[in-house]
Amino acid sequence: MKELLTRLCGAFGPAGAEGPVRDMIKEETAPYSDEQAVDNLGNLVITRSGSGDKTILVAAHMDEIGLMVTYIDENGFLRFTNVGGVFTKLLTGKRVVFQNGAVGVIGQEKLKDSGELDLSKLYIDIGAASRDEARKKVNIGDMAVFYSPLGMSGENRVTAKALDNRTGCAVLVEALKKMPSEPAHRIHFVFTVQEEVGLRGARPASYHLKPDYGLGVDVTRVGDTPEPEYKLDVSLGKGPAVKIKDTSIICHPRVTSLMIQTAENNKIPYQLEVLERGGTDAGAIHLSREGIPSGVLSIPCRYIHTPAEMVDLEDLDNAVLFLLRLLEEKWE
Ligand code: CO
Ligand code: ZN
Repeated sequence: MKELLTRLCGAFGPAGAEGPVRDMIKEETAPYSDEQAVDNLGNLVITRSGSGDKTILVAAHMDEIGLMVTYIDENGFLRFTNVGGVFTKLLTGKRVVFQNGAVGVIGQEKLKDSGELDLSKLYIDIGAASRDEARKKVNIGDMAVFYSPLGMSGENRVTAKALDNRTGCAVLVEALKKMPSEPAHRIHFVFTVQEEVGLRGARPASYHLKPDYGLGVDVTRVGDTPEPEYKLDVSLGKGPAVKIKDTSIICHPRVTSLMIQTAENNKIPYQLEVLERGGTDAGAIHLSREGIPSGVLSIPCRYIHTPAEMVDLEDLDNAVLFLLRLLEEKWE
């Protein structure tokens, strides 16, 4: 799991430019797929045909947050906008990398008071001395992601960029490898695009695949750090969470109760999650077609949308087990 996660987190894949991470997942899962397809928007759909008559769509977004170049000044400094939710106050001094490998550092203009910091006061320095030199490496519209490889923290915890949501991708890949040769249902594992800019890839994928049920796998916030912003009864290392609600979905009671039953019956540690701010692919899936009863399996994660997100590897192993057992349930 750690080795797979290291590679997935290291792959480039901001919203709208998921090619490199998609290729990696495609290659990794090829031996375990009955069918692989990439749809019009770039979602990767991996299908396993099953014995039952139900179709279940399991979605994990493969995109990550990033920065997009808006303007290059005469001295070679790049101005940028955000792609997805980045914290302006955490950007200064961080390194970013473009798809071609160009590494830059984020600098900040002098401020009269620190309250006035916004993206317009920041720039990326890629070491170019002029606009022409910068243009040789980077163009308007190019995207960069945090330059922050995975490292171990303690016995079981890792930090890296893009654990939101390469964690979910890794759980799906591992589950796929361990799935019975003929699963109980027809399963579509969908690695979606553009979740970070508004759950965009999941919508057409869900429309196209017409599932009976939808399940999202994504990271969620925790309430176990010093003075968290919101009271949230989710901790790192206490098992995956069964989402009850976030701002994109109220999970279908049939799905949440099946999830809770499955965890209880198999003695898999789990937590209940009510997230006051944030959404995920299931938000788009459950509103497609005539409505698709959906739920979410969440992985607790600290410091979401920073260059150093943190997850507990044991939560990931439990999430794989949870997903495998869940997909073998009856889903009536
Ligand atoms: Co996110
Ligand atoms: Zn996410």
